[in-house]
Amino acid sequence: MSKRLILAGTILGLAAGPVLAGGGDPAAGKKIYDEACFACHSTGAAGAPKLGDKAAWAKRIQQGMDVLVQHAIKGKGAMPPKGGRMDLSDEAIRNAVAYIVSQAK
Ligand code: HEC
Repeated sequence: MSKRLILAGTILGLAAGPVLAGGGDPAAGKKIYDEACFACHSTGAAGAPKLGDKAAWAKRIQQGMDVLVQHAIKGKGAMPPKGGRMDLSDEAIRNAVAYIVSQAK
């Protein structure tokens, strides 16, 4: 329990850190999320883990921010690469993932 909280706290701390640290910018990511990720991640469409669903995100977040971002960029299972928005930069995707992670506290 406490170990898990420390791990989650570490990852959330990284995600909330400065953009230069590579953790992404959750505030900037919210806009991207609303445009490109909302359709699936707000409803659970296609089995997508829902925004704010701590249980659904806990295990995924344990993979670490870089793995999450790679999956979001390259696609995973029913999720298309970049959520189908190939016009978005890798940095924009990283910010959107940081936002999603920040909502799974
Ligand atoms: C077409 C629907 C769809 C869209 C749009 C979409 N996702 Fe997903 N996403 C999914 C599904 C389904 C999964 C679960 C994939 C699995 O684990 O098999 C998922 C999983 C994820 C994961 C977890 C990956 C992992 O390693 O467990 C992240 C992070 C993610 N999405 C980020 C995003 C971001 C950021 C966007 C917007 C740029 C986005 N998604 C848009 C459907 C979508």
